Formats: sequence, structure tokens, C-alpha cells
Amino acid sequence: MLSLVQESVNYINSKINCKPEIVLILGSGLGDLADEVENPTIISYKDIPNFKSSNVEGHKSQLVIGKFYGKNVLIMQGRFHYYEGYSQAEITYPIRVFKEMEIDKILVTNAAGGCNKDFKPGDLMIIKDHINFSGRNPLIGPNDEKEGPRFPDMSEAYSKKGIELIKKCAEELNIVIKEGVYMFFSGPSYETPSEIKMASILGADAVGMSTVPEVIVSKYCGMEVFGISCITNMAAGITYKPLNHKEVIETTKVAKEKFSGLVRMLVTKI
Ligand code: HPA
Repeated sequence: MLSLVQESVNYINSKINCKPEIVLILGSGLGDLADEVENPTIISYKDIPNFKSSNVEGHKSQLVIGKFYGKNVLIMQGRFHYYEGYSQAEITYPIRVFKEMEIDKILVTNAAGGCNKDFKPGDLMIIKDHINFSGRNPLIGPNDEKEGPRFPDMSEAYSKKGIELIKKCAEELNIVIKEGVYMFFSGPSYETPSEIKMASILGADAVGMSTVPEVIVSKYCGMEVFGISCITNMAAGITYKPLNHKEVIETTKVAKEKFSGLVRMLVTKI
């Protein structure tokens, strides 16, 4: 595994002349922030040895690397999803590459359906924990102790300090922010009302089809993880309205300003 990773690292490093300190994974409809990187180096996933590419509407398929509000960042503009047919190991391959580049902080963002009845579309939610409901784990398979432990601890997958920092930034920006548990369903079908009822009973506040595999591998590799969901819709059965991806993208546009403001400030303070 490491030699493949090293090949990807060498390619990325040959294209950049800075050392990124933070990875930002920008979810559905939230990728425009990458346009604010100064003098960006843009690397298409398809050009990076051993990378896959992603084809979901609202997702580009490239790394954007450069200075973002004073910090060198590496942005994944578009991510890989389990529902696209990739294994969870494939989805999380980029994380291993970023860790090998010695980046040790990651902010993951996503669009999610709200199952907490106190939420409304357009809300932002700090991810304080997750439930992996996919029945799979990206770390299944042989383990290389040089990358991380066989049985990594997940009792603080999302940095407690990070959660407090996001709250502080939101307060300074006068943004109302929610906090909750994100539950990962494989998709691509949206959940049924019964599944959402189950999710609520199990302690979920929001549901979605991404993020959890990347967080598991980031934590395994020893990275500090920060997570923010944009609640784009109320999940199935909470409001009796059919769900569609267009609505998800439309709501990210509504939330974009506060989301962008929060991420800009967070990056300066991380
Ligand atoms: N369910 C799963 N994933 C999602 C949703 C949802 O309701 N909204 C945005 N991503």
C-alpha cells in the first residue's frame, strides 16, 4: 500500500511549492470555496497516479492547493462515495496520501438530511460524533502498523477542542450553529421514513452518504478531525415531501454565505 501512496504523494509534491497544513473536503454544493484559494495549483484526480475520479453532480474532481486566508490548504473539491461503487478503502485512499504528505488536520463537510426535529433546512451542524451504519469499515483488511493501529480508538473521532473552536467562530460571526451526531447510510437511495425513525431512536441528528469512511481513516492515521454538515433538507418522513438532489444543491446555495464565513474563520484559527 505504502508504495502506491508514495507514488501519489510524489506526483502531488512535484506540482506544488508549498506545504499544505490542512485538508478541506468540500461536500455537495459546497465546493465553491476553493475559488478563494490564491494562486491555486489545481490537480485533476484523473492525473494523480492511483486516484479514482468522482462523477456526482455538484462535485468537481480535483485538488486545489494554495494559500487560503493565510494558511496553506489542500482542498478536495469533490469526494468519492461508497454508492458510486468504490470500496471504502478506495474512497479513503486520498486520506492516506494526505497523511503521508504530513498533513495532520482535516475539515470534512457534507450535505445532510436533518432527522432532529429542532433542525431546519439551511442549518449548519457541528458533527460531534458519527454512527457508521454502512456495515463496512474502510480499515478492513491487512494493517500496516506504520500507518496506524489495528484497532484504532474512535472515542473522540471529532476533536473536542475543534468542536469548541467551531462554536467560538460561529458565535463571533453571529451564526446559529447546531451540534449533533451524523449517521452514515450507504445510499444512493434516500432513506425511508422508517429508517429515519430508527436513526433518530439510535441517536442520530442528521443522515448522509459520505464522510464517515474518511473520518475513520483520518483518525486512524492520527489526524485531528473537524466536521460540519449543512442540513439541506429534513430527512424522509420528518416532512412529507419527496427528496431530490436538486433540492439538496439549492439549499447549499442558501447556506453558502454562512458556511463559507465559518470555514474561512475556522481555517485561520485551526
Ligand atoms: N439523506 C441522505 N443523504 C443526504 C440527505 C438525506 O436526506 N440530504 C443530503 N444528503
